[in-house]
Amino acid sequence: MTSVQEEPPFDSTELRRALGAFATGVTVVTTGGPAGLYGVTANSFTSVSLEPPLVLVCLRRRGSGRALIAANGAFAVNILTADQEDLCRRFARADRGSAMFDGIEHRPGRTGSPILAGAAHVECRVAAVQAAGDHVVVVGHVLALAVDPEATPLLFHAGRFLAA
Ligand SMILES: Cc1cc2nc3c(=O)[nH]c(=O)nc-3n(C[C@H](O)[C@H](O)[C@H](O)COP(=O)(O)O)c2cc1C
Repeated sequence: MTSVQEEPPFDSTELRRALGAFATGVTVVTTGGPAGLYGVTANSFTSVSLEPPLVLVCLRRRGSGRALIAANGAFAVNILTADQEDLCRRFARADRGSAMFDGIEHRPGRTGSPILAGAAHVECRVAAVQAAGDHVVVVGHVLALAVDPEATPLLFHAGRFLAA
């Protein structure tokens, strides 16, 4: 991927503010397997393709998620409900450590990735990983899913949670 080296006419606060105007849902991206268990709050989740079924999520390049997901070869995207703000905050904590799933109801999915109760989940095999600046784009081929059509989603806008 090419990168533009020009000095931008804005700073990172302005960039965050502009990008934060795009309202999103909130997910916890999880992986489990020989490399270990991991979960991280992410709102960069996007659908990519229906045929074949592909999704993507962007993760910090320096975070441990990228390596664990690549080593396990699979991940799940758990879409949170409006009453799961606590999970959003918990999986965004920098000091969450290896006990991050303690006390949280979850079950292993088809790939071993932890599945949380929520609005929906998609479970994926890693299809591609692309470096992109300070993040990596992880593309997943969807192998399994479930959705609760009655669920109210957790929404995020301009750094705050929104009522649906
Ligand atoms: C609402 C919300 C959305 C977030 N979205 C992302 C995201 O898409 N990608 C990402 O890498 N971090 C995202 N974060 C930040 C991570 O959850 C947080 O920095 C976490 O501690 C990173 O873990 P790591 O050190 O294992 O990378 C988000 C945080 C919040 C609260």
